[in-house]
Amino acid sequence: MLGLCRAVVPLVEIEKGLQHWMKSILSATSSQELVNLKIGLIGKSGVITTAFKMLKTVSADEKKNLGEKLNKIKNKVEEAIAEQLGKLNNCCTLEKLENETLDITLPIGMNTFGGAHIISQSIKKIRNHYLSRGFLVLDGPEIETDFFNFDALNMPSHHPARQSHDTFYLKGFKETLLRTHTSCSQIRTMKEKGIPIRMISIGKTYRNDQLDATHSPMFHQVECLVADRAPITIGHLKNELRKFISFFFGVESIAIRFRPSFFPFVEPGVEVDCRYTKKDGKLIVTEKGDKWIELGGAGMVHPNVFKYSGITGQAYGFAFGLGIDRFVMLKNGITDIRNLFDTDQRWLRHYGT
Ligand code: DAH
Repeated sequence: MLGLCRAVVPLVEIEKGLQHWMKSILSATSSQELVNLKIGLIGKSGVITTAFKMLKTVSADEKKNLGEKLNKIKNKVEEAIAEQLGKLNNCCTLEKLENETLDITLPIGMNTFGGAHIISQSIKKIRNHYLSRGFLVLDGPEIETDFFNFDALNMPSHHPARQSHDTFYLKGFKETLLRTHTSCSQIRTMKEKGIPIRMISIGKTYRNDQLDATHSPMFHQVECLVADRAPITIGHLKNELRKFISFFFGVESIAIRFRPSFFPFVEPGVEVDCRYTKKDGKLIVTEKGDKWIELGGAGMVHPNVFKYSGITGQAYGFAFGLGIDRFVMLKNGITDIRNLFDTDQRWLRHYGT
């Protein structure tokens, strides 16, 4: 694999490497082999990802041109990996079907009534909280277009910020993807209802991340947008976040702080932390906590977002996006996100309603 230590985007070397990588991908005989290739090429520190990061150092014109070329290469690599993985999985499924049988005539236990999953319970609580405060509670489509997921959120096709969202594109459907965040609902809502608006949107989001203790390719987010013709300040944002965090964790006195951060659809953008302490291995959110934990992203709506949403004239707003799975894990001392999606009956009974 290539070593990259020059501050020039090594497009030629990457183009040369492409043929060799495609060969390795198409001749991989195990999914682990494919995962390793994927990490080495388009993982967080992969060769192609690193080249994307270097786009920062080139002029705007070059950035567009190189960005498009790199995107094409990345898409090719992703497609080849998905195709080969599909082939390998197909073989495994056939082998499994031949070797495994299931006796569906066996009796079931009598105590196997279902209950609401802890994520569903939390979504319901959040919905009710916001409904009771007069917010619109909406959901958008999980299958989105490039426009709503990226362009309208101030991330045009060559924008390097797109690379931080490992996106699942739908094969055979141009510019169609599984939404990588719920921020798209900001655009859809303002396009449809205009402003003033106070809304939240909750739902599933998808990123092409390897499943491990802290990452899952499918997770849930809640997005909040408040926009008006009258001035809205960062103070309003802080107040709203305090309300939500305090409600979710069931604690009256909390301490939150903002750290400057970058999200193309807000300006300024911040990351939100809150104080906590640990007791018996469990995390307790409290104003008196001695540590800070990161909760999500937020900021003041970028003028381009208003523009893409068809809002003209004076407009102000704030938005935030938080991971529900992360909140549920923090509140309940769950350390492995995979537990949420396993079907361990004891676990489900323990956390179910
Ligand atoms: N959409 C961002 C993400 O998934 C989170 C986010 C950050 C949402 C800042 C916002 C915001 O509304 O203002 O990473």
